[in-house]
Amino acid sequence: MTGDDLQALASRALEEIAGAVDLDQLELVRRRYMARHGGLITSVAAELGGLSGPARALLGREFNSAKGTVVDALAERQVTLEEERAGGGLADEWLDLSHPVHHLERGHQHPVARTIREIEDIFTRLGYTSVAGPEIEDDLHNFELLNMPPEHPARDAHDTFYLSGAAVGWLYRTHTSPMQMRTMLAGAPPFRIIVPGKVARRDNPDPTHNPVFHQVEGLCVDQGVTVGDLKGTLEHVARELFGAERGVRLRSSYFPYTEPSLEADVACGICNGIGCRSCHGKGWIEILGSGMVHPAVLRNAGVDPDRYSGFAFGMGPDRIAALRYSLRDVRDLYENDMRLLECF
Ligand code: DAH
Repeated sequence: MTGDDLQALASRALEEIAGAVDLDQLELVRRRYMARHGGLITSVAAELGGLSGPARALLGREFNSAKGTVVDALAERQVTLEEERAGGGLADEWLDLSHPVHHLERGHQHPVARTIREIEDIFTRLGYTSVAGPEIEDDLHNFELLNMPPEHPARDAHDTFYLSGAAVGWLYRTHTSPMQMRTMLAGAPPFRIIVPGKVARRDNPDPTHNPVFHQVEGLCVDQGVTVGDLKGTLEHVARELFGAERGVRLRSSYFPYTEPSLEADVACGICNGIGCRSCHGKGWIEILGSGMVHPAVLRNAGVDPDRYSGFAFGMGPDRIAALRYSLRDVRDLYENDMRLLECF
């Protein structure tokens, strides 16, 4: 290798260094020329070992100068490419502080969920505990223990989905009342519970009916509980939900698991009690069934009816929501129409 060869090698290296577009390419160039073993320039050092005298001194000087130039050029290019990379990052991360902020839509509870929550709040303040029950029930808890043996005519209004092939008669619960039995069978009086949940029935859809709907069951069993306590509780709850001005009436009714039985109606907010499509022309909309727990039901639950008495009720939060928000039709609550839901 002559000094000229070495210079030609160095200038090729300088060209390649200048042409490296990123740090990876520059590293390849560095290795090609300057690798400790086998680099095109570094390996000239080995050749020097075989020379002697002035030839060795001459080539040695050329070698040191070529090596120095290439090392400097590599270092310089490295700084440039590092700066470019950092600058590129800044460009990517550039933030326009004057850009308008994205408006984040905040969700909220469905009107039925909110109504259930409010009913829970009202009863929690009265000392009740909210419990959940299974949506799939057996015939025993949904009907028999509640004084509705097979063939009882009250079952007609409670047709539902049946799980075929099940020996114990599994079905989709038709009301939340079975949780009265499950709670009493699992504990000892006094009981003060409410049970919010979903139920299903073979009801024809109309402005006050949907085959799947919600109920909030209630049960209060203690010593000396009377119809007066039931009436006072229902009137208090109606005032809390609808305000003192709204018309509320109690009328006698029939349920196999209560004696006596009552139903509560609220004045229709669409027609103000005159009668319209929403209230089936009656001016009133039923929101709950209730009564004093039948002694046979207490006995079925292992509670002594001579020592304890109680009342129970089952209210419909879907209808209550429709009444509070003046909706003409409960079915609107299940349409998931954002134009309606965004109103609440
Ligand atoms: N389970 C009844 C229904 O679904 C409502 C009801 C009536 C619940 C009287 C009760 C009650 O707890 O005592 O129509």
